[in-house]
Amino acid sequence: MDSTQRSNYQFLSIIMTDTNATQIVILGGTGDLSKRKLLPALLDLHVRGMLPTTCQIIGLARSEWNNQEYADFVRTTFNTHHSNHPHTEAQIDAFCSTLTFVSGALDDLTSYDKLENALIAFDTKEKVRSNRLFYLAVPPKFYEQIFVDLKRSGVANEEPGTWMHILVEKPFGSNLKTAQQLDKQLAELYREDQIFRIDHYLAKEAVQNILSFRFANTLLRASWSRDAIESVHVKMFETIDVGSRASFYNEIGALRDVGQNHLLQLLALIAMEEPASFKPEDIRRARANALRAIKPIDIKNLQQVVLRAQYEEYRENESVPDESQTETYFELHAEFDTPKWEGVPFYIQSGKAVATSEVSITIKLKDVATGLFDTESCLSVGNEIKLTISPEQSMDISLNAKSPGLGYQLETRKLSLTCAKNKTELDNAYEKVLYDSIIGDHTLFTKTEEVISAWKFITPILEHWHTIPLHSYKKGSRGPTETILKHGN
Ligand code: BG6
Repeated sequence: MDSTQRSNYQFLSIIMTDTNATQIVILGGTGDLSKRKLLPALLDLHVRGMLPTTCQIIGLARSEWNNQEYADFVRTTFNTHHSNHPHTEAQIDAFCSTLTFVSGALDDLTSYDKLENALIAFDTKEKVRSNRLFYLAVPPKFYEQIFVDLKRSGVANEEPGTWMHILVEKPFGSNLKTAQQLDKQLAELYREDQIFRIDHYLAKEAVQNILSFRFANTLLRASWSRDAIESVHVKMFETIDVGSRASFYNEIGALRDVGQNHLLQLLALIAMEEPASFKPEDIRRARANALRAIKPIDIKNLQQVVLRAQYEEYRENESVPDESQTETYFELHAEFDTPKWEGVPFYIQSGKAVATSEVSITIKLKDVATGLFDTESCLSVGNEIKLTISPEQSMDISLNAKSPGLGYQLETRKLSLTCAKNKTELDNAYEKVLYDSIIGDHTLFTKTEEVISAWKFITPILEHWHTIPLHSYKKGSRGPTETILKHGN
């Protein structure tokens, strides 16, 4: 295909009417990620007028559908997964008119021929030569082959005056070795500026706010180190179970699914030094330096610093083998090898199918141990700062104040700040991911050093996972009764 269709392109006398014309190809256009996140995000961007005016969205998947059948599928998806959206039928119709479906298997090269035909047909109709964005919404085990096939088929070639971007979901690889191999392969096939490694947590409004809380407030800047901080607790709890993602999830488990990426990125944002500027390279470098500074776990003490568990009903899922040892919950005690954080424990915890959904970071501050307000005699419960990322973005600071009445006892009062949504806030982090990848801003995408440092830390744990007990907990409970947390939740 490469030679004929590329030359077709050369001989087409295309009049460039829109230099921003872009085609977005979702490889895995009918999968769980597409249904729950990507298609709703694209609809929202479309309605906000944030997609290029000349734009086609192509879903590629195995189903033997035509464009109309794909549009019907997308409409049903919106009703199921995006039912509280404020969009009108007319807006949804307009969005669906930008959709095209290409039926094909990802391991079949002829699928890429069909894809190229669909891409060229659009350009010919619109009289443009469009940019191409490929979103790999497929399990990571397919990445390697797709990278090669996109290149080999010529579909991912950049035409003069256009760009081509490839978006890859986490987990990037399944351990240090495979991540390094993938990286090497990507570097041989594509330029670094063409690659966007997604960690959608970085694109969440509340997560981006960590930079402003930390670096734009003297109150927090002054106390942000081991001198004032006792411990840091990063928590990601979800009420949802693994559901229809079971067969994918069972191969990776909680530590790879959210620990190696989302939660270590949150840790990096808490521990990193102030970036020199808002330039993407400065922010990414600061995150990468923080991840590189995480102390390797001492495997001899593994059982004291990590805990893994599985919810009791997990194996009832028909896609999960009876003997599955995959964790759906973990706790981890990490430390940083820097003078600023020496001795401060950073705890991360994550679990599926637990009682309440919450993503938060709690910074426990040291007790005032001497002087007028000796905590023993004044019964202080200490200060803490809690940044809640979801369900609602907020910041709560617990302060000690005099308890009214006789004597001098301290009691805790809370200062709460809800960061209420306003109209300009994007609802779904994937809107930001897609928008930034279209405008070519890499700030919220992980650079290779970040991914590799995260795997360097996580891989030895995974290699010894089987040596520590797999605890269990009831679905809908608060998680296992065992814990490695020394300072409570
Ligand atoms: C994904 C994980 O990256 O993040 C899922 O694969 C998890 O297991 C999801 O449910 C949570 O994202 P959010 O944005 O809903 O907190």
